[in-house]
Amino acid sequence: MTEEKIFMHAPGDRPASKSREQKPIRATELWFRESEKTDIADHRVHATVRAGDRSWGTDDAKGGYRAGGFAVIKIQKEDGTFDRDEYPVVVTDVRAMPCADVTEDDLVGALSEEQRTGTLREKLERLYGTSFEPQSKISIVRFEYVDQLKAIDDLIRARITKRATLPPDNNEEVSAFESYTMPLIGENYPAKTAAMWNAAYRAFDMPSRNVMMVADPDDTENILRVLRGVDAYAGGGMGVGFKDEGVRFVDDVDPLAKAMGAINFVVKNAEGKLTGYNTDGIGYRQSVREKLSEHGEALRDARVVLLGAGGTANAIAFALMEDGAQITIVNRTIEKAQKLADRLTDYFGDGASVEVVGEDDIAQAAHHARVIINTTTKGASGSFENYMPLAPAGTDVEENNAASENILSSLDPKTLVSDIVLRQDTTPFLAAARQKGFLVLDGVPMVINQAIEAFWILYGASLVSRGITKDAVGDVMRAAATRKTP
Ligand code: ATR
Repeated sequence: MTEEKIFMHAPGDRPASKSREQKPIRATELWFRESEKTDIADHRVHATVRAGDRSWGTDDAKGGYRAGGFAVIKIQKEDGTFDRDEYPVVVTDVRAMPCADVTEDDLVGALSEEQRTGTLREKLERLYGTSFEPQSKISIVRFEYVDQLKAIDDLIRARITKRATLPPDNNEEVSAFESYTMPLIGENYPAKTAAMWNAAYRAFDMPSRNVMMVADPDDTENILRVLRGVDAYAGGGMGVGFKDEGVRFVDDVDPLAKAMGAINFVVKNAEGKLTGYNTDGIGYRQSVREKLSEHGEALRDARVVLLGAGGTANAIAFALMEDGAQITIVNRTIEKAQKLADRLTDYFGDGASVEVVGEDDIAQAAHHARVIINTTTKGASGSFENYMPLAPAGTDVEENNAASENILSSLDPKTLVSDIVLRQDTTPFLAAARQKGFLVLDGVPMVINQAIEAFWILYGASLVSRGITKDAVGDVMRAAATRKTP
């Protein structure tokens, strides 16, 4: 489980998909008449009037416009068909009110040249092409043209992104710098990303800063389109929600990230082309490599038992197999594990060693493990926080703990026991493993290393030319991540 997920949701439930199901109907088009085309093309019109309540969350079957949401202006011709030209916009404000309450100020930016005469009511009727009763609800929709969004301040003003308030050191005025990285997250949480990246920028005297932004993952395609045109945007992270979407909408994807089907990081080149990478798994791999190398060992041919088959397991499995590990995936839902195994085999070829077993066979699988890694929600704060991942969570806690402890006690004492579930204290699994004297690894190095890897992808070449090593970058970012915030 990633840092973001811990802070965003109680474990065990599926809030991301649930909230998506409950999302209001989204209106994504604004229609104008042919006579208004020139004003639209010249970006002179910045607002329009819709009949009814079309604010976000409305009961209107045609849906509502969300401030910060993308829409497209279409020009309807006399014969009812649409003009070939369309104009992408971002809705910045929607206000529903009775027709009688509309003032001249409300119509600023809504009227094209020919509509600017007569009483307010006449203007409204001309604007919308129908007659209104004083009590008829109308909505004033304000918008900005996407092709005019060129800088971070434009994105904030258009309400596409909001500066995240919870991450420490997320207060840089990035527009004062030559370039910036801008991780996108679906929900505000106290991530360490900005602290790590800004510490490195400062330490190595680089003309860049990092700012984490909250945005709607449903807008990933449009946001990336805008970012291609934002000169100072150098790239940045893709948080939960953006990872799976992002991989579909960047111009190029690193082969490993493509096989994983998710990116956690984007790099923009001078031509505005976006390339997606995934450093989650390789960040974790780095911490496993370090632990094993303490014993003079490597991942090649090491048997890794991976508990879970979700997003995190996926990234870890690909990265570890790239180092030649042999993987046994253990999952409650065996079909999901099999799907991951099939994708691993597709990518690494028939020589790849991948096995799939159900939760009832954990004991047998664990006995042959050099490394055991928990990526399931067992042990994460919330309803499963007292469970251990070496036994099913279907039983009561005591039974689960007893069975898990039993398996743990029978393992080779050299086994590296890892739990990437992050919480304020230690998970019961890692606590038990530590108590029994196993070598242990928690999820913190994964969060830190994925950032170091991403920073290095973006700046490694130029830093090397200045004599700065990846280790030096790692030291700075690690210190920033572990620094206590007031
Ligand atoms: P992440 O992105 O953190 O990996 P995820 O994609 O939601 O999160 O994956 C959660 C993992 O925890 C899955 O392997 C899931 O098993 P299923 O595929 O069977 O759903 C596992 N998991 C969650 N709750 C579980 C429970 N109560 N018992 C066993 N496994 C559980």
